[in-house]
Amino acid sequence: LILPVLLAGGSGTRLWPLSRQDRPKQFLCLDGEHSLLQQAALRVKHHCLLPPLVVCNAEHRFMVAQQLLEVGIDPCAIILEPQSKNTAAAVAIAALWAQQHYPDASLFVTPADHAIANPACLIERLPALAQHSEQALLTFAIEPTRAATEYGYILKGKAAAQATNLFHVQHFKEKPSYALAQQYIEHGNYYWNSGMFMFTSGCFVRELEQHQPQMMAALRKAAHFHSDLDFVRIDADAWQHVPSDSIDYALLEHSEQVLTCPLPLQWADLGSFAQVWQHTEQDHQGNAVIGEAVLQDSHNNLVVTDEHQVVATLGVHDLAVVQSGDTTLVAAKSQLHTMPALLSQVSEQY
Ligand code: GDD
Ligand code: MG
Repeated sequence: LILPVLLAGGSGTRLWPLSRQDRPKQFLCLDGEHSLLQQAALRVKHHCLLPPLVVCNAEHRFMVAQQLLEVGIDPCAIILEPQSKNTAAAVAIAALWAQQHYPDASLFVTPADHAIANPACLIERLPALAQHSEQALLTFAIEPTRAATEYGYILKGKAAAQATNLFHVQHFKEKPSYALAQQYIEHGNYYWNSGMFMFTSGCFVRELEQHQPQMMAALRKAAHFHSDLDFVRIDADAWQHVPSDSIDYALLEHSEQVLTCPLPLQWADLGSFAQVWQHTEQDHQGNAVIGEAVLQDSHNNLVVTDEHQVVATLGVHDLAVVQSGDTTLVAAKSQLHTMPALLSQVSEQY
C-alpha cells in the first residue's frame, strides 16, 4: 500500500503579491489550467496509490476541498494544522495519523509547489521502492543544473539496491551558501533533493524520535485526531508547543538511514519568481508572460497580471512585474532574494 501525502500548508511569501495569506502559492494556477495543488493531486492519481492524505492550514480547508473536488479527487483525509509548523511537523502529524489508519502503508510525501513534466518515471517506480521504505528514508535526487541555494543537496554514495537504482546518501546539506553550492556542482556527485520522500510511518516516527525527541514528544500530545465535517482536526493547544522546523534540517541532515533514487525528472520548484520565469515559456526576447502584456524593447522580463488586466513595458529588462488585485510589484530579478525584507515593510504599512 502506498499513501500519498500532499503538503499544502506553505505560505509562499516569495511569490507575493500573487501569493497572499488567504491564497498561498499552492492554490495558484501558474501554468495551464490547474493550480499547483491540483497538479500535485493529479500526479498521484494512480491505480497503485491510495487517494491522498492532505495536510494544510485550517484557514484554507474549504479552498483545498473545493480544488480537489474540481479535479475529481476524493482525499482519504484532510488534516488541519492550527498554525504552520513547517514540514517536519506536517509530515509527522501525517505519519501519526497513518499509523492508526494505514499502519502498513508507505507514505509518499510530496510538496504542492512543483511542476513535473514527466511524472510517470517517478510514480511507476514507487511500488518497487516501497519494500525499502520500512528501513530507510527514501529521497529522490535530481541532476543539478546550477549552484542553486534554495534546494537541499544530496551526495550519492554506494549502491544500496541495484535493481531499484537506490544509493546510500553520504551527505545531506539543506540550502547551502552559494560558495558551497558551487563546490557541490564542481564535485559532480551531488544532486538536488527533489523535496519528495518515501518511508513507512513507523520508519519516519522512529527516526524523528531518535533525532528530535522533544519535537516528537510535543507532536504525540497534539496527535489527538477528531473529525469536523470532512476534515480531521488535532489538539490545537498542544500543537502551539510543537517546534517549527523543516524535515530537511530536522531529520535528513542528521539521519544515517537515508537512501536516494536519482531520477531523470523534468522538474521545477515554482517557489520564487526567478523559478517561475525560468519555467514559463519565453518569447524571442526572453520575456515570460502569464496574463496579458504588451512589451516593446523589453527583454528577459517576467510579467504576471490578473485576468482582464494589462501591463505594458517599454525599454526595460530583467524585471519581475507582478500585478495582482490592488497591488503591483516591480522588482529587479537579481534582487528577488531580498523579498523577505521588502515584505516585512509592506506588512507594517499596508
Ligand atoms: N502542511 C504544511 N505545513 N505544508 C507545508 C508547511 C507547513 O507548515 N510548510 C511548507 N509546506 C509545504 C509547502 O506548501 C510546499 O509544498 C512543501 O511543503 C515544501 O515546502 P517549501 O517551503 O516550498 O520547501 P523548500 O522548497 O524551501 O525546500 C524543500 O523543497 C526543495 C525542493 O523543492 C526542501 O525539501 C529542499 O531540500 C528541496 O530541495
Ligand atoms: Mg518549495
